[in-house]
Amino acid sequence: AKGIGVLTGGGDCPGLNAVIRAVTKTAINVYDYEVIGFLDGFKGLVENNYINLDLEKVSGIAHIGGTILGTTNRDNPFRYMTGGTPENPEFTDQSDRAIENLKKLGLEGLIIIGGDGSLNIAYKFYEKGVPVVGVPKTIDNDLAATDVTFGFNTAVDTASEALDRLHTTAESHHRVMILEVMGRYAGWIALHAGVSGGADVILIPEIPYDIEKVINKIKERYRQNKKFSIIVVAEGARPKDGEMVVQKVVPQSHDPIRLGGIGNKVAEEIEKRAGIETRVTVLGHLQRGGSPVPYDRILATRYGVAAVDAFARGEFGTMVALKGTDIVTVPLVEAIKELRKVPLDSDLIHAARSVGISFGD
Ligand code: F6P
Repeated sequence: AKGIGVLTGGGDCPGLNAVIRAVTKTAINVYDYEVIGFLDGFKGLVENNYINLDLEKVSGIAHIGGTILGTTNRDNPFRYMTGGTPENPEFTDQSDRAIENLKKLGLEGLIIIGGDGSLNIAYKFYEKGVPVVGVPKTIDNDLAATDVTFGFNTAVDTASEALDRLHTTAESHHRVMILEVMGRYAGWIALHAGVSGGADVILIPEIPYDIEKVINKIKERYRQNKKFSIIVVAEGARPKDGEMVVQKVVPQSHDPIRLGGIGNKVAEEIEKRAGIETRVTVLGHLQRGGSPVPYDRILATRYGVAAVDAFARGEFGTMVALKGTDIVTVPLVEAIKELRKVPLDSDLIHAARSVGISFGD
């Protein structure tokens, strides 16, 4: 039988297990392939650390968060830590070692479930001749070439529920409540949760805000006797003419992340300039944990099945994607070209404005 390797790279994401399950079941039941799952993402590929995935291993896991295969943000076979210290690491290219492992295991190729970073690595392996199919994963929904990534709707669900809870306490205390959600480069979670949760202000990286406009919105509500307001802030939001708040470079990666701060900055400004009591909640990794919502279980299952189908058809160097209501395959290069931001002319931004939500612009 032919063999497929599967791995989950980058940050975890609700729905990973549903993809692993669908890949394994389809590969075994439909194509009679053998499936190997590399452990802890690309690290397992380099270190030849894996488990055999059979029907029993993937039974009953579609609704469970996390990943039975483990994952890591850090490890890149093309720039792999092989010496030095954590503070002063030495990197070497271990991609040939990874490819050697694939050959030794008799694997024809790889299904890589990942976001922008992992799919970039997937593409490099494809360029070196490894048959690869990608599956688009990220709660941020900011991958190009697909309408939706799995995990996004679960994150929106969590953020929306948080807004419902903040609403009642905001109203009781006549406070401004700020919810900071994930999204370094794109405001998908903030926009969708904000519309769903009835936010008054939504601040996203795509629309730099003016704090005075935000305060005007809060004051306008005051005049209408609504003495509380709800603000959703994406972690990558920034003021007009301003810098992104705190930047930190994660060791062993070039990925800048913010340390939770823009929510606090907005709160400080509101208290200082308008004298209205304000509280901040940083939702953080609650958005990544827990059980996927039904939409994500279904999308993840469709993606997993489609990835094996594409593999069987020999459509390598591709990623499965959702376009409208259809699952299709797109070239991997399209997916990693750029991050997908919220288009300013999107109908959801229009709808949000029409129901009175301010973007602080
Ligand atoms: O890409 C997913 C994501 O959760 C982003 O929304 C967030 O900015 C980042 O990862 C957090 O990374 P980490 O889990 O490494 O702190």
